[in-house]
Amino acid sequence: MARETWATRAGFILAAAGSAVGLGNIWRFPWVTADNGGSAFLAVYLGIVLLVGVPGLLGEFVIGRRGQKSPAGALRDLSGSRAWGVWGVFYVITAIALISFYSVVGGWILRYFGESALGVVGTQPTYFAAPGQYFGSVAAGPDAFGFHLLFLALTALVVFAGVRRGIELGTKVMMPAVLVLLVGLAVWAGSRPGAAEAYAFYLAFDVATVRANFFDVLGPAAGQALFTLSLGAGTMITYASYIDEDRSLPFDATVIATLNTLVGVLAGLVVFPLLFSLGVDPSQTSPGPGALFVGLAGAFAQLPGGAVVATAFFGVVVLAALSSSISMLEIPVSFLVDEYGLGRRPAVGLVAAGVVVTGGVCAFNPTIAGTAVFGFVAGPLVDTLLTVGLVAVLLFVGWVMGRDALAELRSGAGNLSAAVATPWLLAVGVVLPTFLVFTLLTTFGVDADLGFWPTALVAVAIGAAAVAGLRTERALV
Ligand code: TRP
Repeated sequence: MARETWATRAGFILAAAGSAVGLGNIWRFPWVTADNGGSAFLAVYLGIVLLVGVPGLLGEFVIGRRGQKSPAGALRDLSGSRAWGVWGVFYVITAIALISFYSVVGGWILRYFGESALGVVGTQPTYFAAPGQYFGSVAAGPDAFGFHLLFLALTALVVFAGVRRGIELGTKVMMPAVLVLLVGLAVWAGSRPGAAEAYAFYLAFDVATVRANFFDVLGPAAGQALFTLSLGAGTMITYASYIDEDRSLPFDATVIATLNTLVGVLAGLVVFPLLFSLGVDPSQTSPGPGALFVGLAGAFAQLPGGAVVATAFFGVVVLAALSSSISMLEIPVSFLVDEYGLGRRPAVGLVAAGVVVTGGVCAFNPTIAGTAVFGFVAGPLVDTLLTVGLVAVLLFVGWVMGRDALAELRSGAGNLSAAVATPWLLAVGVVLPTFLVFTLLTTFGVDADLGFWPTALVAVAIGAAAVAGLRTERALV
């Protein structure tokens, strides 16, 4: 059977942007930003998206389009080594970890969407009365499990329908809807009292604050950048493997990263004014994972016609979350299809059945060895898996593919992209893995805080060594 491919060029871009745009932008981004001091975090995060995210996306695209297989098969075929094929299983595991907690959060969103929609037709949404208490009572347990199943079923349905009729068609509808609704909501939020304060907290760019907090926000900023761009789990390898034409990968990567950043910033423009209008100052009290639910629900409750706005808002989030969760489910599914010749449908059934269980554990959120499972999976576990996963991808591109990666990047690319190909390979082979390992160490609490100038010096030295030692394209082959 011939391998499936995207029907249109826009199909790939929208599917990949749909994967990137998700709960990471709307649910995770505002509270991670608030936890890390607002604008200082935003600045570092945007820098990492540009300098690590875009080259990283390109790395995954190059592997995927060249390999024409899901991660395990692509890594094995391109390297000619079975060990890389075995490493590919790592991405399957990461994807399962991701979707296990993601589907639970998706379930919360579905529930709030349903509640709000009931509000539109007359009954007051239950969460309006006591938002904090309400969230506490539905976040874990049988309720959370039920909605997790519902969200997973919707996800499975799209993946079940295949690359063209499911993922491509679905994201072509979902993505534009998300953009239009978010712009509308941001304009509306701007008219709320407290908007000015919120903008000051969120958008003020203060160099002194950025420098003072640089090392503290580095780890979370890198983690958020990878998460929001869907990097490090092989999603983008898988999606790029369905491209069957020569066209500019650098162009696509730039469009996808820009769209994703736009939605993240827009989501902040919705969420922060609402929090401030409620008198919640995110720099004082950390809103945490409940921010979206407790904070916003409270704001909606105080508004005349709040149920309508709430329905629109949670509707956007459901669509954004679905276009991401399908990209997670697609990783293990394409693995079973490519490596074991399973049909798409049985593969979806098998993986979904597994995620019913693993997601169920997150939904009931038991405490194992003193750690609550949900927080551990959604936080440190996923951050670590994604960082390690991306480092491996980058090293593969730089040191195993080498010149092949350059050729793949250039194929279909314009002059500008072709000109940056060699510096890109250096960055991908040397600078970015070094940087990511460094952020990983800071995440693990290793005190790597050398201060600004010594670190800048070390960074320049590594860069110079790379340029000197790997001057020619051949050196990387
Ligand atoms: N990027 C998505 C978001 O922001 C989540 C996501 C989808 C993802 N696929 C991924 C994250 C693969 C990491 C890896 O919500």
